[in-house]
Amino acid sequence: MADLTIAVAKGRLQNEALALLARAGAEVSAAALASRRLALDDESGRYRFIFVKPTDVPVYVEHGIADCGIVGRDVLLESSTDLLQPLTLNIARCRIVVAARHGASLRDLGMLRVATKYPRITAAHFGAGGRPVEIIELSGSVELAPVLGLADCIVDLVETGATLRENGLEEIEVIGESTARLVVNRASYQLKAAAVAALIAALVRAGITDGE
Ligand code: PRP
Repeated sequence: MADLTIAVAKGRLQNEALALLARAGAEVSAAALASRRLALDDESGRYRFIFVKPTDVPVYVEHGIADCGIVGRDVLLESSTDLLQPLTLNIARCRIVVAARHGASLRDLGMLRVATKYPRITAAHFGAGGRPVEIIELSGSVELAPVLGLADCIVDLVETGATLRENGLEEIEVIGESTARLVVNRASYQLKAAAVAALIAALVRAGITDGE
């Protein structure tokens, strides 16, 4: 049986996370990766990986099904789970921004309609600024909302900026930066201390920056 189970967020950060883990000595064979299996052991047999939707990574780790997880800070800010975050990983770097249609003025609007996958981040940001907002929660393709008149602006991730540009939107304000984090279950951190410490040390050696 593997020493540690690691939940990896599927999607944007998955390839970068697997490359980093491979450099840290936790490598999955190309054949295994090419399969559709959602749970795989690494070649050393020390690690088991499970691949789940980003928002489910904190859930699996909090419940101890996975000892550790790799997931974006954006997802953790939205999650109410209680996890340890011992390392900031220098991968999946992006910004969380407010964006609107090119040239649109948001100043004269009363109640702002904001479409987003990030209702908590959005409520905290506009709440801190004292601006009343109606949050319209979507689960993807958020950039469409201002284009089609569903919302005045969006709160979303920007990596290259291509999605904003190609949909006639522009950044208005940066709310924060996001990179991937290593998260650890509180009990695993104690009960599997040596294995967790070895993973952290290997990830540090593999070229990441240390935690906040
Ligand atoms: C994310 C984000 C933006 C896009 C930004 O979407 O929500 O839509 O990536 O990347 P860019 O600045 O490089 O264009 P994702 O691909 O996760 O899909 P989604 O629209 O279904 O949320």
